[in-house]
Amino acid sequence: MPGMMKILVLHGPNLNLLGTREADIYGTATLDNINTNLEKLASDLGHQLSTHQSNAEHELVDRIQQAKVEHINFIIINPAAYTHTSVAMRDALLAVQIPFIEVHLSNIKARESFRHESYLADIAEGGIFGFGAYSYELALLAANQHLKQS
Ligand code: DQA
Repeated sequence: MPGMMKILVLHGPNLNLLGTREADIYGTATLDNINTNLEKLASDLGHQLSTHQSNAEHELVDRIQQAKVEHINFIIINPAAYTHTSVAMRDALLAVQIPFIEVHLSNIKARESFRHESYLADIAEGGIFGFGAYSYELALLAANQHLKQS
C-alpha cells in the first residue's frame, strides 16, 4: 500500500453549472455531488483530495503551477472546452511534470468534430470519457492504481 497521496481534481469552464447544464449530455449530478463523492472515495483509499473549478484559463494554469509547490502527486482534470484550445494548460502540465488523467463526462469522440482533438491527451497517463460523473470515479481508481505502481 502506498502512503497517503495528494490528489488534485481540476474542473474547467462551465462545469460549475453541472446539474442544470445540458442534462441530456452531462447528466443531473451537480459539481458538489461529484466532488463530495470523490472526497469520500479518496478518503476510503487513504488519499487526500482537493478540488477546484474555474471558468478562467489563467486561473487553471496558476492552479497547475501551484500544484507543484504543494507537492500534489496526481491531477485529475476535466479541462472542459479548454481541452480543445489550450496550449497554455498543456504547457503548464508539461512544466510541473505531475502525472494526470484527462476526464470528460461526455463521449467527446461521438460529438462535434472540434471536440475530437485534445491538447492534453497525448501527455496524459490516460483518458476516461463518456461515463458521466462515473468518469471521475474511474479516474480516481486509475490514479490510485498508478500511484501504487510507481
Ligand atoms: C466536457 C466536453 C467538452 O467538449 C465541453 O466543452 C465541456 C465538457 C465533458 O466533460 O464532457 O465543457 O469536457
